[in-house]
Amino acid sequence: MTVSLPQPHKTLVTADGFLNVLQITDLHLHEDPATIIHGNHLQHNFESVLAQALAEALRCDLILVTGDLVSEVNPDIYERIYQRLRATGIPFACIAGNHDVTDETGKQLPFAQRRLIAQPANADLVNHYVIESPDWQILLIDTSVPGQVAGKIHPDSVEWLRQQLTQCDKRALLALHHHVLPMQSAWIDAHMAANPAVLWDLLADFPQVRALVHGHTHQEQVRHKQGVTVYATPATSYQFLPQVDEFAYDQEARPGYRWLQLAANGEIKSWVQRLG
Ligand SMILES: [Fe+2]
Ligand SMILES: [Fe+2]
Repeated sequence: MTVSLPQPHKTLVTADGFLNVLQITDLHLHEDPATIIHGNHLQHNFESVLAQALAEALRCDLILVTGDLVSEVNPDIYERIYQRLRATGIPFACIAGNHDVTDETGKQLPFAQRRLIAQPANADLVNHYVIESPDWQILLIDTSVPGQVAGKIHPDSVEWLRQQLTQCDKRALLALHHHVLPMQSAWIDAHMAANPAVLWDLLADFPQVRALVHGHTHQEQVRHKQGVTVYATPATSYQFLPQVDEFAYDQEARPGYRWLQLAANGEIKSWVQRLG
């Protein structure tokens, strides 16, 4: 099998050896910047989350955006997002979620009656992408499947991860959109990456993979499997109620974001902040 390495590696070096990574996810922006979904002003939430995070005392070295940047596939919305991210002056990388490669018709209808239409991913979303520090490698993969809500660990991603982890034994943080461990929530677990065992089998061979971050689930969770800490992160948009089997918004939870502080000695500290 041929493996494509379409993106250049990026290198990050910090004076104190810590890598402070800000994860934001599930922006779900619409063409109309005034769009409000379930009481959430989506554009305002995105900008407020970014502003609040970057006003903290913590230095931000990298911004990871883990998918569902939009709810309508439209290049103008991406340009709005990239402009805002570029204005921070901080390196950033964005990966696709299901909504970045799928449009829905009949949004006023119950979910089961909507039609899902495959769309090509925005060209500036990255896949098979490495960001390296002297002590860490951050590996980004695209789990989206055009026209579907559920994701997939694509065979070329398995090959690419195997090649990358074989040639580099630095501690690794893996970033993707879909969840790869069930969330004890039947409706959303029907839409996880459909073949998580493929990934877990691979990771069993590479103990340097210490952590995995994802979006998609619009809620906070921390789990452990095979020595990997798995972080689910709240959306900047609207939140889903944890551990229920039918879809429900979480009325109480505020939009949020996650910090991951990667230390030179391999320790990870991670925590979620909510919009004030
Ligand atoms: Fe989402
Ligand atoms: Fe999603």
